[in-house]
Amino acid sequence: MLELGVCYYPEQWPREKWPEDAARMVELGLDWVRIGEFSWSAVEPEPGQFDWSFMDEAIDVLGKAGLKVILGTPTAAPPKWLIDRHPDILAVGPDGHVRRFGARRHYCFSSRTYFREAARITRAFVERYGHHPFVRAWQTDNEYGDHDTIYSYSAEAERAFRLWLENRYGTIDALNEAWGTRFWSMRYRHFDEVDLPLHVVEEPSPTHLVDFVRFSSDQVVQFNRQQVEIIRAGSPGRPVTHNFMSHNIDFDHFKLSEDLDVASWDVYPMGGLINGRLPDEEKARLLRTGDPDQVAFNHDLYRAAGRGRVWVMEQQPGPVNWAAHNQAPADGMVRLWTWLAYAHGVDMVAYFRWRQAPFAQEQFHAGLLLPDSTPDQAFHETATVAAERERLPKNRQRERAKVALVMDYESRWASRALPQGRTYQASAICLDWYAALSRHGVDIDIVSQESDLEGYALVICPDLLIPNTGFIERLKASQAKVLFGPRSGSKTPDMHIPDGLPPGPLRDLIDIRVTRVESLPSPESETVLHGNRSFAAGTWRETIETGESVLATFTGAYRPGSPALVGNAGVRYLTALPSREWLDALMRDCLDWAGISWLPDLGDIRLARRGDLTFAFNFGTEAKELPIPANAGILVGESYLEPAGVTIWRHI
Ligand code: GAL
Repeated sequence: MLELGVCYYPEQWPREKWPEDAARMVELGLDWVRIGEFSWSAVEPEPGQFDWSFMDEAIDVLGKAGLKVILGTPTAAPPKWLIDRHPDILAVGPDGHVRRFGARRHYCFSSRTYFREAARITRAFVERYGHHPFVRAWQTDNEYGDHDTIYSYSAEAERAFRLWLENRYGTIDALNEAWGTRFWSMRYRHFDEVDLPLHVVEEPSPTHLVDFVRFSSDQVVQFNRQQVEIIRAGSPGRPVTHNFMSHNIDFDHFKLSEDLDVASWDVYPMGGLINGRLPDEEKARLLRTGDPDQVAFNHDLYRAAGRGRVWVMEQQPGPVNWAAHNQAPADGMVRLWTWLAYAHGVDMVAYFRWRQAPFAQEQFHAGLLLPDSTPDQAFHETATVAAERERLPKNRQRERAKVALVMDYESRWASRALPQGRTYQASAICLDWYAALSRHGVDIDIVSQESDLEGYALVICPDLLIPNTGFIERLKASQAKVLFGPRSGSKTPDMHIPDGLPPGPLRDLIDIRVTRVESLPSPESETVLHGNRSFAAGTWRETIETGESVLATFTGAYRPGSPALVGNAGVRYLTALPSREWLDALMRDCLDWAGISWLPDLGDIRLARRGDLTFAFNFGTEAKELPIPANAGILVGESYLEPAGVTIWRHI
């Protein structure tokens, strides 16, 4: 059954309010409460002097009211006294300036002092609460990467990077070879000569850049792992999670999640729309409902990262404070997002936050309650969800989808280091492909290159620049049809063009050789003919030599007749980035090829299935009649789905 929760900051409110808050949370139907992630200076106001009284009492009050506590380690916000004693904790930003105390996340993942201090405070929390009956789960830190905090250019980072390089390459000659330092006389004699890739003229070697990202990612994984190990040793039986952000590619979320029991993420769809990929007119239309696919994509991504276990740790409850503008969601959206999460496999949704704070940075950020404790819109919508969940059968699980979409962090880092044109935006491309499938009512699993591919009928790789051997072997062994986007297999792990030209190792699967690539100004720069229909394409185009069947061709003035889509019985390769219309047609075609049924374009409606339950969501501005099968029973909502509405039915 869907569980509900809320983020609560007892240190921000007088103790007298806690019992009433806790009682109201339970009355509302909440099961979980997350606390503690910014509590360090309240718990340890002076170096080494702990005052546990507030935390003891808060956990007691919340737990006795019936709530399960998720306790956050407080390492996202080290106290001032600690920073003043050890300024080497602070990170240095890409502008070369120290990122100072005064907000949060002011630490460098490579600081040895901070590594020790993070262990010390985590151990103190775990020793005090590891066996506490009310503490039922742990969250490490808070939103690794928030406000660009993964990459630090400090002296500590430089020292650690050099060691990391020595460990990776063994000899400086090997590094010189990998980075191509022969190119502009960039040769190094020792690892100690290597700087961080910052403030160079023109641009650093792409291998230097990607190695710095790999290194930084490993630092985060190591930092997190230390906390997880302390928690596991001192708090057995409590799941450990971390709250990720949407679409962050600054570190490898799959790798970090290997150490977690549950992956969580923070859902802020209004900002997601504004920062997202959609054209302005769509953003205007979806202003108060958000991008129908951006949130779902992240649920599916983190479900994969959590190996099936995923929570929402922070659900936007109303307007927030941090985007370019902060519109209110349409009434009903908080309920819709909660059910959307559940439909995509999320088992617990916690709202951020219980009560709007009348002070400090986030005073414009809504909560379930207004600052004076009267219920805000999201409070009422949460009550609705809490009542509706009783109408659903228990224990329904998300089943394996037929379509797998591959997400690979290394490949993202590769195209970010060598974009070859501003119009190549890998995250947007991937989401476009996801959206095209989703518009046709298809459930999707996101997978990594390490995932088991058993049972998939179609595997989609929008931007797999660096495929690994194990993945290729598993593709060969699987029955799935496979679609590769342009640039697939175009880089070695050293960021070189592969021997024998791209798609490198994918040439085992499909007979092509990419002899030219170009980036273009818009998705309509080219035209193609695919199955008697003409479509626009663009932003990326490749010229290939191939022994495979040609399924679509370019028809514009430049090299007309050259292949735009080629394939054999099991594998297809696209040499251009499709416009939206072509993408829709292409996905329908691929679904037919893989024997997967689909629905005509759903517009702003989205469907998702969890066991025998189907959920329909209306992100649009018009009501729509739903395609509910005759043998289904509606459990929540109506067959005529209003804007911002949710309908749930069960197959009988
Ligand atoms: C998240 C963060 C929270 C809060 C929230 C505001 O990124 O984890 O602590 O700041 O944003 O929307």
